[in-house]
Amino acid sequence: MKITLKNLSRNYGSLHAVSDVSLEIPSNKIFGIIGRSGAGKSTLVRLISLLEKPDKGEVWYDDKRVDSLSEKELIQQRRHIGMIFQNFNLFSSRNAGQNVAYPMEICGMDKETIKKRVKELLELVDLGDRIDAPISTLSGGQKQRVAIARALACEPDILFCDEATSALDPQTTRSILELIKEIQKKMNLTVVMITHQMEVVRDSCDFVTVLSAGSVVESGTVKELFSKPKSEVTKDFLAHLTPIDADKESLIHWSKLPGRYTLRFAAGNTDSPIISKLSREFDVEINIRGGGIQKVGADEFGSLICDINGEEEAVRKAIAKLKRHRITVEENV
Ligand SMILES: Nc1ncnc2c1ncn2[C@@H]1O[C@H](COP(=O)(O)OP(=O)(O)O)[C@@H](O)[C@H]1O
Ligand SMILES: [Mg+2]
Repeated sequence: MKITLKNLSRNYGSLHAVSDVSLEIPSNKIFGIIGRSGAGKSTLVRLISLLEKPDKGEVWYDDKRVDSLSEKELIQQRRHIGMIFQNFNLFSSRNAGQNVAYPMEICGMDKETIKKRVKELLELVDLGDRIDAPISTLSGGQKQRVAIARALACEPDILFCDEATSALDPQTTRSILELIKEIQKKMNLTVVMITHQMEVVRDSCDFVTVLSAGSVVESGTVKELFSKPKSEVTKDFLAHLTPIDADKESLIHWSKLPGRYTLRFAAGNTDSPIISKLSREFDVEINIRGGGIQKVGADEFGSLICDINGEEEAVRKAIAKLKRHRITVEENV
């Protein structure tokens, strides 16, 4: 299911929580929406998932406009939407299996079908043996797995994840993201992944949009974002990434000085000896102050913080050469 947002706005009094957001969320992919706390992510997700109406703008699922549906049609449409949240939102009075059964009971499925589906769904999330477990006896990761099983119960076309891994440790986060990726493929889901963590985008998303103060600041593939970030907000997110290896620094700082330039190497040009060539060819001195590698899927993205010193003309030519080699050069201010 493709989702199209046209000029969506939502105000709370004088506060513009979401302002003029237009986006195309492609079918059968994982689409990330990243932003700091208060950026408007949860408001946006409530608009896209039809929990709230926009003040302005339109929401389309494929070729159907859905924000203007009647109450009755909305309820029908919402059955094809799954949602998971940071705090899991499970019923503590029901056990794991009964939580998964709940939406199917609401839909009026017969008891036998429900029983069979609960078992299948819990097996899908690797909790086949915890069907009778009270929620309080499950770990955070297991609770989120139950929530995922419940979200999938009525075979949704879209799965919304609002900070679904924010309450989990890095290792559990990774296993939940792996599960979501696996389910996305298996069930041809369109996944909208809301997060304030670039790690989540790096490890799970195909596309991403960066939200700041209610507006889209940039959108593209995750690889584009890592190799050519445009906005300051995005660069700041990238600068604070933690690496896959938990206790290693992703960006190693050799120097306390910030360095004048940040060079970004995209997959494919990370292993050419461009830096040493540059200093020989143009008579410039390159002083490296920090750097690191990030992995997005199978591709590696490098960043290098450095000074480039020399005659003005030589520095200009050196930078031009870097750019010709498809290296992004940002001047740090
Ligand atoms: N129901 C509401 N009433 C009033 N203000 C709200 C409401 N929901 C969100 N806001 C405000 O809108 C802004 C965006 O909030 P939210 O969408 O929750 O951001 P995020 O999920 O990115 O942290 C915040 O300033 C928040 O205080
Ligand atoms: Mg939020």
